[in-house]
Amino acid sequence: MTSGGALANGGGGGKVRLLRVQYYVVLGCVAAVVLFACLKYTPAAAVAAVGYGFWGGAVGGQQQHAAGLAAAAAAATTDTSSSTTARRSPVVIFNFGDSNSDTGGMAAAMGLRIALPEGRTYFRRPTGRLSDGRLVIDFICESLNMPHLSPYMKSLGSDFSNGVNFAIGGSTATPGGSTFSLDVQLHQFLFFRTRSIELINQGVRTPIDRDGFRNAIYMIDIGQNDLSAYLHLPYDQVLAKIPEIVAHIKFTIEALYGHGARKFWVHGTGALGCLPQKLSIPRDDDTDLDGNGCLRTYNAAARAFNEQLAAACRRVRQRMADAAVVFTDVYRPKYDLVANHTRYGVEHPLMACCGNGGPPHNYNHFKMCMSAEMELCDMDARFVSWDGVHYTEAANAIVAEKILTGEYSTPPVRIASLVDSTVSNDG
Ligand SMILES: *[C@@H]1O[C@H](CO)[C@@H](O)[C@H](O)[C@H]1NC(C)=O
Repeated sequence: MTSGGALANGGGGGKVRLLRVQYYVVLGCVAAVVLFACLKYTPAAAVAAVGYGFWGGAVGGQQQHAAGLAAAAAAATTDTSSSTTARRSPVVIFNFGDSNSDTGGMAAAMGLRIALPEGRTYFRRPTGRLSDGRLVIDFICESLNMPHLSPYMKSLGSDFSNGVNFAIGGSTATPGGSTFSLDVQLHQFLFFRTRSIELINQGVRTPIDRDGFRNAIYMIDIGQNDLSAYLHLPYDQVLAKIPEIVAHIKFTIEALYGHGARKFWVHGTGALGCLPQKLSIPRDDDTDLDGNGCLRTYNAAARAFNEQLAAACRRVRQRMADAAVVFTDVYRPKYDLVANHTRYGVEHPLMACCGNGGPPHNYNHFKMCMSAEMELCDMDARFVSWDGVHYTEAANAIVAEKILTGEYSTPPVRIASLVDSTVSNDG
């Protein structure tokens, strides 16, 4: 089970089996909630989906879209100058995803005690992130001068005035593939939005107002767990699974659009064939390894996923003339970290900092980071991989810096310019 496997990334091996029973109980409850939520929300989503047919008549696609963005940016400038007294509303991000962007949701939802050395580098305490420090999403938030996102499930100390993080470690894009699969995260968002609007209508001040929902950036970073679950299959069968994974992400974008979202920021998946976790899987021989020591086939699957997700974003963009849909390829910066590792001061790009077994990968599925037998690298050692699956703060910082240039994005815009553009639609 994907969620179990990914959970093992977070907890100790022994916990997984115990939690698995709880998972089925939770899954049952979740299924009931999802069924209810589907009944409740499907009509609106269906209406929105039909609506795209209308916008589909508008031709132009990317160029027209780019022009639209420019016009929107220009409108933003006009807006602020014409209403100088208006208070500038905060940047709002709603994020959906897995452990790559989970800022503590899994720990809060499952009551997991994520322990040191997680968080040792930057926060100097465990925060529920699976890393020694900050994640790419944290660096993105910092670049926009906003605080790190609070997890939706975290009941104490959360502040949602700059958005909500629905990402949960182990999550899949495929419904039912994990407890907090993308459909559940979507419904949690719809619940949050409906509840907010109810309160706004009662005159209550909510963390996010109507403008906040309308101008927010909707970020999605998911698919690694879905793909990972299939990678052991022959390559053609892995390829055959990709369209469905992508379809769930595309559906989520469309459903969010149906509920007023207009700015989307979608991440592809990373260089899975370079992860110590994947490289530690026993294999017959090394013929699949490329010049950098990564698994060719796994990386090809990751690139195929990214190509299809990029294509899905392109199609959605063509139909939603009034929306910005940006796809960002994280594979290239992540593969570059391995291929050009010496340039980044990294000695062992295919070895986990926190794991077990020493070189070449320091990864043992049964003796992972946080387990009693973990072997941990020095604080000042520069590693790409933190625990065999997730990246170190140092690696995340480099990936984020590259992503923030906009050069890995289609259309090639920076996330900051997406924030500044205004949305004409009244939601
Ligand atoms: C490594 O760095 C060089 C020079 O910047 C670049 O051209 C190349 O694409 C990089 N390799 C990868 C795999 O990204």
